[in-house]
Amino acid sequence: MSMALLETKNLGISFGGLKAVSDFNLTIEKGQLYGLIGPNGAGKTTIFNLLTGVYKPTEGMAELDGEVITGKSPVEICKHGVARTFQNIRLFKDLTVLDNVKVGLHNNYKYSLLDGIFRTPKYFKTEKAMNEKALELLKVFDLDNEAQFLAANLPYGKQRKLEIARALATEPKLLLLDEPAAGMNPNETQELMDNIRFIRDEFDMTILLIEHDMRLVSGICEEVTVLNFGQVLAQGETAQVLNDPAVIKAYIGE
Ligand SMILES: Nc1ncnc2c1ncn2[C@@H]1O[C@H](COP(=O)(O)OP(=O)(O)OP(=O)(O)O)[C@@H](O)[C@H]1O
Ligand SMILES: [Mg+2]
Repeated sequence: MSMALLETKNLGISFGGLKAVSDFNLTIEKGQLYGLIGPNGAGKTTIFNLLTGVYKPTEGMAELDGEVITGKSPVEICKHGVARTFQNIRLFKDLTVLDNVKVGLHNNYKYSLLDGIFRTPKYFKTEKAMNEKALELLKVFDLDNEAQFLAANLPYGKQRKLEIARALATEPKLLLLDEPAAGMNPNETQELMDNIRFIRDEFDMTILLIEHDMRLVSGICEEVTVLNFGQVLAQGETAQVLNDPAVIKAYIGE
């Protein structure tokens, strides 16, 4: 019996004549910290869009925990346990930091509209549990002291972390991070690496991350897949792949 959490088989998509991704095969085991790298335009974000239902594949399929997810809607796939962050931060800028995380919690914490209107005991109990859970997640990223700030007023690096906290609030099986360290200074990147390791270890999370920062990739990813022109160029143990002459050439040729 396979322990794979995510398995894609010949996954691909074409836009008009352009094959953005083709024959993409990837197996990620439960609890793995896995990297997806490659030059600009290689098709990395497109793979996230395929895995989250934003795009429907024109070939192949993906399975999460033994169930086919390709063909399902983004909401269904989220409920199945795939959460993501975006290359360009997408937060509710006019909501507080705390409320941004609580939005993610609505997958698992529920009260009815009437409970809300009449402020029933169930409403207060659920709200209290949500506040506690949200604060616990914010604490992971050292954001608990900024819980009442507007998201828009957080510095950029902290907004990136808040987005990860919100994705975690949906209690995913698989967390997809699209360039989480983009725009961060070396200090913030180091903290982020510690955060990502902590999430994997403490929450038993499986993480697939896209990243251009090779120090981060080699620091935390056990295995990587290199994408080039929509196709897998190399796949395997991180240090070995990063030393592959074909991989080095693809990056230098950028
Ligand atoms: N909706 C779309 N319509 C047409 N072409 C698209 C669409 N989405 C992606 N592409 C094309 O697919 C290719 C891969 O894009 P993608 O955004 O996945 O690259 P990437 O590896 O994430 O690059 P980067 O490192 O710059 O973020 C590009 O040529 C892009 O223009
Ligand atoms: Mg991208």
